[in-house]
Amino acid sequence: MHILHVVGARPNLMKVAPVLGALKHYSRIKQTLIHTGQHYDTNMSDVFFQQLEIPAPDVNLGVGSGSHARQTAEIMTRFEPVVLERKPDLVLVYGDVNSTVAAALVCAKLLIQVGHVEAGLRSRDRTMPEEINRLVTDQLADLLFTPSADGDENLEREGIPGHKIYRVGNVMIDSLVRLLPAAIEKKMNGLPDSYVLVTLHRPANVDDDHTLKGILECLLELNSQLKVVFPVHPRTRQRIADFGFDASQLDLREPLPYIEFLALQRRATAVVTDSGGIQEETTYLKVPCLTLRNNTERPVTVTMGTNILVGQNGATLRTELTKILNGKQKRSSVPPLWDGRAGERIAEILSKL
Ligand code: UD1
Repeated sequence: MHILHVVGARPNLMKVAPVLGALKHYSRIKQTLIHTGQHYDTNMSDVFFQQLEIPAPDVNLGVGSGSHARQTAEIMTRFEPVVLERKPDLVLVYGDVNSTVAAALVCAKLLIQVGHVEAGLRSRDRTMPEEINRLVTDQLADLLFTPSADGDENLEREGIPGHKIYRVGNVMIDSLVRLLPAAIEKKMNGLPDSYVLVTLHRPANVDDDHTLKGILECLLELNSQLKVVFPVHPRTRQRIADFGFDASQLDLREPLPYIEFLALQRRATAVVTDSGGIQEETTYLKVPCLTLRNNTERPVTVTMGTNILVGQNGATLRTELTKILNGKQKRSSVPPLWDGRAGERIAEILSKL
C-alpha cells in the first residue's frame, strides 16, 4: 500500500511525525511526503523537520503565501499532477490549515481515498478560516481519526457514518511525549523563575488594530509585574509594524523551534495564546492556559484541562492572570488517549485496510 502524507504549515509537522514514524514499522507500506510550502521560513518549517526527525519531503510544492483563495487554489493546482503521477492508495491530511482542505478536495475529485488526522474538531465559529477547512475536509474524508469523544459526536451530528470514524487520541501529544525529555534537558539561559509565555497569530486578534492594541496594552501592563516572553509569528510581527505599535519592552523573540518552545511552555507560570495546539500541550503539561478567543474547537482542554477562554479583550485576561499569580490554579486532568500512542493506533488501523 502506498500512503501519501500532505503537510504545509507548522502545526502539521508535530502531527505527521508520529504517524510517519509508526508506519515505518510496516514493511508493506510505502510512504511519500509532500510539503505544500504554505510555511516556508526556516524557523516556521525546516527546524521542525530536524527536531521531529521528519524525512525531507519527496516534493515541495513551494506555494508560499497569498489570500485564502489564491493559496488554496495554488496548492490544488500544484498538488493534482503530483498525485496523478505518484498514484497513492491513500492520502493523509492533517489538522485544519489551507493545505489540508486543498489536498482533500483534489483527492476527492480524483476518487483517491483520504484520511483526516485530527478530524471532528468544531469551534462552531464560521468566521475562522480553520473551521471552514475542518467542515469541508471531514465531509470529503473516507477515514476520520479523532482525538477525543467530542470529535466523534460532532461528526455523527453532521451525518458522517460511524464506520468511518476512529477515535485514536491526540497525535500532537505523541510528539510532545517523545521530545519532552529533550525539552527538560534544554538550558534556557537568562530566564527568570516566573514568566508568562505568549503566542498570538489568529487574524481575529492581530488583523484588527483595536483588538491587537488592547491585547498588547494588557501584556505591557503585565510585563511590569512578570516578564512576558513572546515568540512572534510573522503575521503578527507584520501587523505590529503596520499599525505602528511599540511592543519593544516585551521579550520579543523569533518563532522558536519545537524543543525550545516546549522547554519554555513547561516552565511557564501561565501561557497566553490563541493557538489550537498550545491549548492541548498546556493541558498535557498541566500549565495554566488563557486562550484569547471566545470559543474553542478543543473543548476538552476547558472541561478537563487547564484551559480558560478569556475572549479578545484584556479584562478577563487580567482577572484570570491575577488568580493564577495568587496561586489559584484550576484543577485539571489529561484527556483519555492523550498518551503518546495515537500514531501507533493510526498505523495499526491503516495496516489492516
Ligand atoms: C496558518 C494556519 C493556521 C495555523 C498557523 C500556524 C490556515 C488557514 N491557517 O496560519 O491555522 O494555526 O498557520 O502558524 O491555514 N508567513 C511568513 N513565513 C512563513 C509563513 C507565513 O512570513 O513561513 C507570513 C506571510 O506574511 C503570510 C502570513 O505569515 O501571509 C500568514 O501565513 P499563512 O500561512 O497564510 O497563515 P498563518 O497565519 O500562518
